[in-house]
Amino acid sequence: MTTVTCIADLRALARRRVPRAFFDYADSGSYQEETLRANRSDLEAIKLRQRVLVDVSTRSLATTIMGQKVAAPLILAPVGLTGMQHGDGEILAAQAAEEAGIPYTLSTMSICSIEDVAAETRTPFWFQLYVIKDRSFSKDILERALAARCNTLVLTVDLQVLGQRHRDIRNGMTVPPEIRIRNIIDIASKPAWAFSILKGKRKTFGNLAGHVKGMENVNQLAQWTAQQFDPALSWKDVEWIKKIWPGKLVIKGILDPEDAKTAAKLGADAIVVSNHGGRQLDGAPSSISALPKVADAVGNDVEVLFDGGIRTGADILRALALGARACMIGRAYVYGLGAMGKVGVAKAIEFLEKELDVAMALTGTNYIAEIGHHILADTAGIAAAAPAPAKKPSAPRTRKKTAE
Ligand SMILES: Cc1cc2nc3c(=O)[nH]c(=O)nc-3n(C[C@H](O)[C@H](O)[C@H](O)COP(=O)(O)O)c2cc1C
Repeated sequence: MTTVTCIADLRALARRRVPRAFFDYADSGSYQEETLRANRSDLEAIKLRQRVLVDVSTRSLATTIMGQKVAAPLILAPVGLTGMQHGDGEILAAQAAEEAGIPYTLSTMSICSIEDVAAETRTPFWFQLYVIKDRSFSKDILERALAARCNTLVLTVDLQVLGQRHRDIRNGMTVPPEIRIRNIIDIASKPAWAFSILKGKRKTFGNLAGHVKGMENVNQLAQWTAQQFDPALSWKDVEWIKKIWPGKLVIKGILDPEDAKTAAKLGADAIVVSNHGGRQLDGAPSSISALPKVADAVGNDVEVLFDGGIRTGADILRALALGARACMIGRAYVYGLGAMGKVGVAKAIEFLEKELDVAMALTGTNYIAEIGHHILADTAGIAAAAPAPAKKPSAPRTRKKTAE
C-alpha cells in the first residue's frame, strides 16, 4: 500500500496509474509553461506571519460563497475530460465534493453528462459554459443545466482560441486523436485504469453526444468542438447570458482589473482570477500576482474567487489573505482522482483542509472571515510585487527523445 499524505503524493501515484497521454494532458501547461510554473513559484514566495500564544481553539473553515454555505473556502474547478483520469470521474468527483460540503463544477467538456452527474448527486452543482459559435447549443445546454438543478453558472472567458500544449501533441492528444503504438502499450500496462474506463458510463463528450446533429463519436465531436471556439466572443455575450440564466453567474478567467470592473458592472455575482491553470496565455502573470490588484479594483462589488497553482492549505491561506473569498482547485483533485478514484478526490480535499486548518492556527486565526493581509509576513509585499524567478521544472521523461 502506498502511503499518501499530500497532493504531491497523489500526483506521483496518478502518474503511475493513468496512461501518459491523459496524465500529461492534466499536468501540463501551454507552450514553455512559464505561467504554469509562475503559478506555483509566486505562491511559494509569499510567506506567512507566524503568531504564538493566540487562543485558536475555536477554529472553523466554514464560510459562504455567494451566500451558499460551504464547509471550507474550496470549490472543485471545471476540468475537461475528467472522466478519462478514471471511469465516471465527474460523478465521483461531484460525490466527493458533495460529501465534503463544497461545490463541484462540471465542465462543458466533461465525459459524464450534466444529467449523469445530477442523477448520482443530491445537492445542486455548478455548471461551466464555453460560449461557442453555435449559440443555440449554448442556450440548450443552459436549459439542461437548469433542469439538472445547477444553481451557478461559471462562464469561462479565457478560451476564445486554444493555447497549445506541446506534450499533448507529442502524446497524440490532438484533434482528431492519434492512436500510437506507444499509447496502446502504455494503456495495456495500466489495467486498473482501463477497467475503470470500460466500466464507466461514457467514453465520449457526454454533454455533446446526442446533442450535436450527426456527431456521435469522439473524433467527430472533438473536431466539431475545436471549430466552435469563438474568437468573436465579447462582453455583449455576457449580457446575453445574463438575460437567459436566472441563477448565479461567475465569470472565470479574469486577470486584469479593468476586465474585473466590467464583469462587476455587467452583474456577475463572482469572478475567478484565473489563467486557466497556465494552459492558455503563456507569459501571462501568475494568478496570485494578479489577485491583489483585481481584488482592490472591484472591492465589494463582486466576490473574488481564485485559482491557479493551489497545492497546499497554506496556498489557500495565501490567496485568501490577498483578497480571495475562496479557491478553486483543478489539478489537485484530478491527481487524486487518477490516483485512487473517489477516495483520492476525498483525500485531496481532506489534505488541503487539514493543512489550511493548521496554517490558520499557526498564524493565530480562528475564522475564515478574520483572514487578511495581516497574516502575511513582511516579505509578502515584496514577493507579490516582484515574484521570485520561476524554478526550472523537472524534465518530463519524453524530453530526451523530443529535444530539438
Ligand atoms: C486538465 C484540465 C482541464 C481543464 N478544463 C477546463 C474546462 O473544461 N473549463 C474551464 O473553465 N477550465 C478548465 N481548466 C482550468 C481549471 O478550471 C482551473 O482554472 C485550473 O486547473 C486551475 O489551476 P490548477 O490546476 O493549478 O489548480 C482545466 C484545467 C486542467 C488542468
